[in-house]
Parts: sequence; structure tokens; C-alpha cells
Amino acid sequence: MRLFTGRVLANEPVGDGLFMLSMAAPDVAAEAEPGQFIHLRCAPPNSDDPLLRRPISVFRARDDVLWLYYDSVGRGTRYLSRLSTGDPVDCLGPLGRGFRPVRGARNVLMVGGGIGLAPLSMFADELLDDDVSVTIVAGFRTAARALDPRWLDPRVEYRVATDDGSLGHSGLVTDLVADLLDWSDHVCGCGPARMLESLVRVAGATSKPIHVSLEERMACAMGVCLSCAVRARDGVRRVCRDGPVFDARTLRDVQWRSA
Ligand SMILES: Cc1cc2nc3c(=O)[nH]c(=O)nc-3n(C[C@H](O)[C@H](O)[C@H](O)COP(=O)(O)OP(=O)(O)OC[C@H]3O[C@@H](n4cnc5c(N)ncnc54)[C@H](O)[C@@H]3O)c2cc1C
Ligand code: FES
Repeated sequence: MRLFTGRVLANEPVGDGLFMLSMAAPDVAAEAEPGQFIHLRCAPPNSDDPLLRRPISVFRARDDVLWLYYDSVGRGTRYLSRLSTGDPVDCLGPLGRGFRPVRGARNVLMVGGGIGLAPLSMFADELLDDDVSVTIVAGFRTAARALDPRWLDPRVEYRVATDDGSLGHSGLVTDLVADLLDWSDHVCGCGPARMLESLVRVAGATSKPIHVSLEERMACAMGVCLSCAVRARDGVRRVCRDGPVFDARTLRDVQWRSA
């Protein structure tokens, strides 16, 4: 983990309000692990507003380049959406504990809600290089917000659900999970709390390992302020330091209260 300045290579719209930012980040790209995140300063150099950095997962890290897939939902991410090629990005990272391959798992099911696809994509890249089969099921509000498959490794089996039925399965992404559970021997998820709760309920009825990446609001991202704390079976866990990826069975129900 270090402070570094990335240089924007591209910052393209990839859906309604969604962007893919690629930046040159030599050394850091080689260091990043699937599921880790970068804490980005989202203010111009002459301003401290907003003061707090914003956490964004690493979508892909390859050849000295980091890719970030983000939704412009507020001040910080809107600032990011205005960055142009060559602009500097003040970064801290890579941070957190990410996804780890489960020994012997050959078929991995990944369930993503919207920008929850970001950390899953990088994990898929790593597993596919080890000849593990990966199916990603992804849920979006509508087709205009769905991630085009060209952003994913072509070896991924990619299935989409939309809330309004405008693309793929009409309904919740978790509707697609039951049919794939027998096939999978490791289940991973990232997305809204309600989606994760449903995923853990369905997949938790099996004995398969389940790992989820949480996206609690963060301040320091250094394990100090406890603003990202969630309850686990064995006590309080900091999403920024102990996660963001957790064994879902170690988390207590109370952590879904933000659903
Ligand atoms: C470990 C981690 C990884 C993340 N990875 C990504 C990613 O890859 N791509 C991406 O687009 N976003 C990601 N997020 C969420 C992202 O950090 C927030 O959307 C961002 O901080 C919002 O900042 P803002 O200033 O644009 O919005 P704000 O003005 O701070 O808030 C705007 C709206 O977004 C909501 N919001 C803010 N933070 C979160 C959050 N953490 N979860 C849910 N809602 C939130 C607020 O409640 C508010 O309604 C991640 C969060 C965490 C903790
Ligand atoms: S954000 Fe401060 S402890 Fe996690």
C-alpha cells in the first residue's frame, strides 16, 4: 500500500452514469490483488472538498494499468467522471483483503449487482489464467446500465438480469443463482446489501464456500476510525482492513441492516 499518482489514460462512459477509468500506475498494478480497492482523492489539487477519499475497487490490473469501473452517484464520483486523459489522480492503495482462490475449486460462480462487478472481474481474470471456469451473473436496473461483455475476459460465461426486463433475465440476479449452484464449487458476490443477503440465504443452504465483498461507507480506510465496522460472529470487523472480502458464514445477520 502506498500513496501514488495515477495518470488517466481513458475515462469512458460505459452505461447510464457509469464510467471505466484506466490509469497508468506502474508497480501498483502489479501489486494489486483481486478484491482490493484504491482510495481516491476526489478534489482538484487546490481544494479539500470533498475532504475524504472515496474507495473504488480494482476492476482490472494489467501491464502497469489499473482499471476502475464506477457509478457517478455523488460529489466524489462526479469529480472522477470529469477527469480527462493525462490528468493526475491522487491515490492510496491497493488496500484491503481481497478474494482468494479456494483450494480445488474448478467452477466459480460470481454474482454481481451493478458496480459490484468490479472486484469480481479482476478475480475472474486471475482464475481463468489458472484454467478455472468462471460464470458471472450480473444484475442491473436496466439495459442502459448493463456492462458490455467486451469489458470482461471472453472466457467468462456472462449472464445478465435486469429489473425491468430490458436485457437478459427479467427480475433479480439472484433468480439465476439456484440453477448454477450444483455446477459451482465456490460462490463469490459483491453488490447491494439486499442482493448479498439473498445470495447468502440461497447459497448458504449448501456447503459451498461463499465469499462476499462489502461496500460499507469508509473514511480513513486505514483501520482507525471504525466507520466501516460490521458485526461478524467473532466480533467487530473493519471492512477496510479485515475485508472488504469476507467468508459470508462468519458475518452475523445484523450486517445486512443497511438493506
Ligand atoms: C471497498 C469498496 C469498494 C467500492 N468499489 C466501488 C466501485 O468499484 N465502483 C463504484 O462505483 N463504487 C464503489 N464503491 C462505492 C463508492 O465508494 C461510493 O459510491 C462513493 O464513495 C460515493 O462517493 P460520492 O462522493 O460520489 O457520493 P456521496 O456524495 O458521498 O454519496 C452519494 C450517494 O451514494 C451513496 N453512497 C456513498 N457511499 C456508498 C457506499 N459505500 N455504498 C453504497 N452507497 C454509497 C450515499 O448514501 C449517497 O446516496 C466502493 C465502496 C467500498 C467501500
Ligand atoms: S474506514 Fe476507518 S476503520 Fe475502516
